Amino acid sequence: MATLNENYLKLKAGYLFPEIGRRTQSFADAHPDAEIIKMGIGDVVRGIPRPVADAMKDACEELAHDETFRGYPPGQGYDFLLEHIAEHEFGSRGVQIETDEIFLSDGAKCDSANIQEIFGLDNVVAMTDPVYPVYCDSNVMAGRTGKADDEGRYVGLVYLPCLEEADFAPPLPDRHVDLIYLCSPNNPTGAVLTRADLARWIDYARSEQAIIIFDAAYEAYITDDSIPHSIYELDGAKDVAIEMRSYSKTAGFTGVRCGFTVVPKQVQVVSADGAQHSLHGLWNRRQSTKYNGVSYPVQRGAAACYTPEGKKAVRELVDFYLANATIMRKRLTEAGYTVFGGDNAPYLWITCPTGLDSWGFFDKLLNEANVVSTPGAGFGAAGEGYLRLSAFQHRHLVEDAMNRICAL
Ligand code: MLT
Repeated sequence: MATLNENYLKLKAGYLFPEIGRRTQSFADAHPDAEIIKMGIGDVVRGIPRPVADAMKDACEELAHDETFRGYPPGQGYDFLLEHIAEHEFGSRGVQIETDEIFLSDGAKCDSANIQEIFGLDNVVAMTDPVYPVYCDSNVMAGRTGKADDEGRYVGLVYLPCLEEADFAPPLPDRHVDLIYLCSPNNPTGAVLTRADLARWIDYARSEQAIIIFDAAYEAYITDDSIPHSIYELDGAKDVAIEMRSYSKTAGFTGVRCGFTVVPKQVQVVSADGAQHSLHGLWNRRQSTKYNGVSYPVQRGAAACYTPEGKKAVRELVDFYLANATIMRKRLTEAGYTVFGGDNAPYLWITCPTGLDSWGFFDKLLNEANVVSTPGAGFGAAGEGYLRLSAFQHRHLVEDAMNRICAL
């Protein structure tokens, strides 16, 4: 009989969002008339911007003709898109990224889960608590974490508790670590890392010869001009950091799937014999073996995000969700809740009312307001006592949800 990768048995029961889906479905089955409003998983609801959808449609048409048909895409992506990314995402902020340092993919989630397999199992991994569960679970599956303790903390991970009294900023580790996952704007807390925060992390990584895996999937939601959109806006980051981006929460691509990871050529990893290797070359090797690239129509759609009309439409979409977050923050604050995030991020991080833990608050909102949320404990032990609400919803449903929650 085939045997199992035993590390899978160390995973906590279910991936957070399917678990929330199951609880929501069982509530819906028991209450078929309830009008449930989903503000749990951060999934977008509005249509893909017209210029982007049109570009995808035209590309599909090209594929229907022998003369314009295209087969396998280039491994890292078509130049027409990579050049736009280098110019608009980085060049416009004074950051020089070469097109061949950009690897297109089916999203930041997949890249952030896959990247760890290049690294040895003996690396010490640090991640924030609370954390986007993919960083943790992908390391559990690989066998880098040991078992979880009674509170659900893996003994082999170094947790960086992001506490309210420190504005949810992660502290530097108090020991050596090799790999560090950072996410700004943060999922789930909505907090952002300042220039000074990032400079501290880069200094740490340089002195410890660590690598930072920087997830910037929500950078378009930054409204504060002083906050860096890319870690590469800071000196020295290109030696120690890789960065992930996504079109999911900007162009509405959660279902279409497209993102990219920047792997600068100078980021190095060391082998047991002491030799240094370029992470760029290894990621290229990994991707070209296990992945065949983003489809042509999707790349054309992503490229259309950088035309003047595309940029405007994407900005409107992001601003729409940010306006939702502002409404939510205002209504909940007026109703007496303590609310964080939502100003540079599409997520609000709310303190649970006295006497309720985060699953208790989740159940209360589901049962009494028919609103689906995400319990903070699902993001790690330090998420207990908080609940996340996503601003990715239609405006009238945001308003309904706020009316219901504020009336509780
Ligand atoms: C979330 O709700 O945290 C996100 O939708 C998850 C994701 O982007 O994979």
